[in-house]
Amino acid sequence: MSEQRFKYAVVRKPAQSMVDGITEANLGKPDYKKACKQHNNYIEALKKCGLEVTVLEPLNDFPDSCFIEDVAVCTPHCAIITNPGADSRNAEVIDLDKILDKFNDDIENIIFPGTLDGGDIMMVGDHFYIGMSDRTNIQGANQLISILESYGMSGSVVEMDKMLHLKTGINCIEHNNFLVSGEFIDHPAFSILNKIIVPEDEAYAANSLWINDKVIVPFGFPKTKKMIEDLGYEIIEVDTSEFRKLDGGLSCLSLRF
Ligand code: GLY
Repeated sequence: MSEQRFKYAVVRKPAQSMVDGITEANLGKPDYKKACKQHNNYIEALKKCGLEVTVLEPLNDFPDSCFIEDVAVCTPHCAIITNPGADSRNAEVIDLDKILDKFNDDIENIIFPGTLDGGDIMMVGDHFYIGMSDRTNIQGANQLISILESYGMSGSVVEMDKMLHLKTGINCIEHNNFLVSGEFIDHPAFSILNKIIVPEDEAYAANSLWINDKVIVPFGFPKTKKMIEDLGYEIIEVDTSEFRKLDGGLSCLSLRF
């Protein structure tokens, strides 16, 4: 397998304030130094997947700002700056237009009363599944669908009620393969997909990240790793233990396009 779909990634270094990030994980506070090391390893993994990585400086006023996936939706035709649904994260979008402008001819915006987190958006070709989480509302979803349609793409909403974000529990690893856990296993929106069911005790690894036919898998989830390996993908493992403490996974840590 070999495919160069994505060329670039944008990441934001963790801020020291990350120890005060939003969390329901109940795994304790992240160790900042360890998080920085893990973040560097993550950047190296993105590079191994063939991406040129832009590394943004930390934003100490925003403890969750390393989870940069939530502030934009990058498509092959435009970038959409979101209106993040958590109050403490809403202003993380500051200055993002200047960064994304370097890579995109067209920048769009989700605006109030719409809210939307990038973690709720799963791109499958030209179609975008939009999770109706506590962070993304119907106005945000409808704005996104209109923007996508104006560029010849499409979107559909996915009802959900348990997980933080859509991609907490379902991720496309291309070739019609989807890693699925929890409430999405029997979800009607995904009934016709080729589902790789992630065991409950490894549910966190449903957020593994396909990039150019390599799959980055969180360290410590052997059953999921083997299932992905058995499908023929090359695996890169990255330890994300400190980001998991803030409910964050591999996809949350970058924008890819
Ligand atoms: N801690 C990541 C988030 O809640 O968005």
